Amino acid sequence: MGTKYVNAVISEESNENSLPVLDGTLGPSAVDIQTLYARNGLLAFDPGFRSTAACKSSITFVDGDKGMLLYRGYPIEELAERSEFIEVAYLLMHGDLPTPSQRKTFDDALGYYNILHEQVLSFYRGFRRDAHPMAVMVGVVGALSAFYHDVMNMRDANDRELATIRLIGKMPMLAAASYTYSIGRPQRYPNNKLDYATNFLQMMFGAPNREYVVDPVLSRALDVILILHADHEQNASTSTVRLAASSGANPFACIAAGIASLWGPAHGGANEAVLKMLMEIGTVENIPKVIERAKDKNDSFRLMGFGHRIYKNFDPRSLVIQKQAKKVLAHLGKDDPLLEIAMRLEEIALKDEYFIERKLYPNVDFYSGILLRAMGFPMNMFTAVFALARTAGWVSHWLELQGESHGIDRPRQLYVGKTLRHYPGKK
Ligand code: SDX
Repeated sequence: MGTKYVNAVISEESNENSLPVLDGTLGPSAVDIQTLYARNGLLAFDPGFRSTAACKSSITFVDGDKGMLLYRGYPIEELAERSEFIEVAYLLMHGDLPTPSQRKTFDDALGYYNILHEQVLSFYRGFRRDAHPMAVMVGVVGALSAFYHDVMNMRDANDRELATIRLIGKMPMLAAASYTYSIGRPQRYPNNKLDYATNFLQMMFGAPNREYVVDPVLSRALDVILILHADHEQNASTSTVRLAASSGANPFACIAAGIASLWGPAHGGANEAVLKMLMEIGTVENIPKVIERAKDKNDSFRLMGFGHRIYKNFDPRSLVIQKQAKKVLAHLGKDDPLLEIAMRLEEIALKDEYFIERKLYPNVDFYSGILLRAMGFPMNMFTAVFALARTAGWVSHWLELQGESHGIDRPRQLYVGKTLRHYPGKK
């Protein structure tokens, strides 16, 4: 039987086989294929979801060709320059910037719920000292379900709001504790006189027995990192959160699933992989060899921090992070040879036909590791910082999904396995 084709033609006319085209406010329109299988017995095949809109969303918009990223309509460059992470978290969750009184209420709620239950801290003792912080965060965030099951009626708006406040509020101490436990340092508690980023840094690097004053330049740099990483449409980890949430799973379990998905080196784990790659390159002289490896189809090596499923132009976030990295290194009087290698690598790659043809540019992860390392973060905490930031986006999508009514997300498949056969021998 020869190959058959569906010849989709976009037109104003409709007939019994027509599929409506849905227009958003920005970006590509979408063919609504929800009735395709019921009417024609056909499935749409799109592994990797390159041409699939999994949902409607009003939170974030990315135009990959223009290198544009909007949070609720505001350009990321303006938010990184003039806003702060908690204001951006509110914007992502609620759709508009908070009024001063809304901001105060939000700050007070986060401050009230930012301490971990003492029994949650005992979970850390169950991990090996050298456990990766992301392994700890997946486990501990999931375990929060065991502490708040009494206030998780997902049909109750107050319970939903409280669950998200607890997640954003507790994530800094939870992430910091996944580091301090690994070095055997007692965990400092949040200090509600400090802003979110400063509080996280004092919990990360301070000790209970001595004063620890956070450098305001580093606080601001971290706040910018958190803003840049807060959300990014339907990326792999956010889609994981939405898929888990569609079954009615509680928010702590859904965010734990998102953390697990973010950990992969093709996604949020790339910032740690970039630094390992730059360390392996070692000197500018080794760059040509690495570029050749990245282009070699027989070599699974990829230039970490390069390329993006949507950005076929510069990732606007990587430009901001590169600037912050230079500013922090200059402020600290540090000189990181890896920054020079990264900039040289970018320069060479962007002139190479292979990268130009495939529109491969540095993404958010390319410079973030250099900035985090300059700030004193160990490499294995880079993705944990990404998870801390992306919790704002994940809870916003979790809240948005609560209002949807399409039921559980349950993809189909194109089955290519064995047809019916029977177990050998007599019955
Ligand atoms: C994040 O989705 C999001 O929004 C993610 C994120 C967010 O904020 O949530 O932006 C954060 O995860 C950023 C991406 C971090 N990952 C990396 O830096 C890992 C390295 N990058 C690649 O693995 C890759 O670019 C992806 C995973 C990011 C995107 O992969 P795609 O869209 O599936 O690209 P592809 O595999 O279809 O590649 C197209 C071509 C292929 O070559 P051909 O088969 O056409 O010859 O480009 C090549 C690929 O081999 N290619 C690369 C490359 N990335 C793509 N070649 C060398 N090095 C690379 N990094």
